[in-house]
Amino acid sequence: MPDIRLLTASEARAAIPDLCEILADCVNGGASVGFMQPYTSADALAYWQGVAEAVEEGENLLVVAELEGKIVGTVQIGFASMPNQPHRGDLKKLLIHRSARGRGLARLLMQAVEAEAARQGKTLLVLDTATGSDAEAIYPRLGWERVGAIPDYAMWPEGGLCSTTFFYKRIGDNRN
Ligand SMILES: CC(C)(COP(=O)(O)OP(=O)(O)OC[C@H]1O[C@@H](n2cnc3c(N)ncnc32)[C@H](O)[C@@H]1OP(=O)(O)O)[C@@H](O)C(=O)NCCC(=O)NCCS
Repeated sequence: MPDIRLLTASEARAAIPDLCEILADCVNGGASVGFMQPYTSADALAYWQGVAEAVEEGENLLVVAELEGKIVGTVQIGFASMPNQPHRGDLKKLLIHRSARGRGLARLLMQAVEAEAARQGKTLLVLDTATGSDAEAIYPRLGWERVGAIPDYAMWPEGGLCSTTFFYKRIGDNRN
């Protein structure tokens, strides 16, 4: 059974080696999640250190999925920082190691992070993902509404421009 956990900042720091491995595996597997190939676990270190700091500052939720003592999946919500959006969060970096896909971990992570955001009073979540990616197909299955796509928004990790599709979901008291 997977263990799905919300991490504190110190737990996030301890998880950095596993998180680096997951991010490198996803980028090298072709996921468009902000980074270009070639990408190593060492390249991911600064990114995850920044995430742990954001958790420390209360700006970010970080949830992980652990199987047999190893973290194999993760997702985040970053809280919007502008004073006129205290109710909104950005869902980020839903990442499952290729060795652990297809077992329902993404669904469990999404349910857990959305529930925690709702518990903290958030009512609207937003995300974007590469058009045509595996990830684009799963969000509507999890209750997210597709808004539309912007052409040439980002690059695939191996190069070449890709469109980005935007989604939103109402949560908590503000559910449709
Ligand atoms: C997208 C990703 C997170 C899915 O993780 P996963 O643990 O394999 O997904 P799950 O097993 O929880 O599947 C969740 C749902 O999506 C569906 N799904 C999973 N992969 C799918 C795919 N490639 N195509 C279509 N549907 C898919 C499942 O059937 C399941 O639906 P159901 O619960 O209604 O039956 C994973 O492939 C991944 O990490 N990709 C690379 C990183 C990435 O692109 N992240 C998104 C950044 S926005």
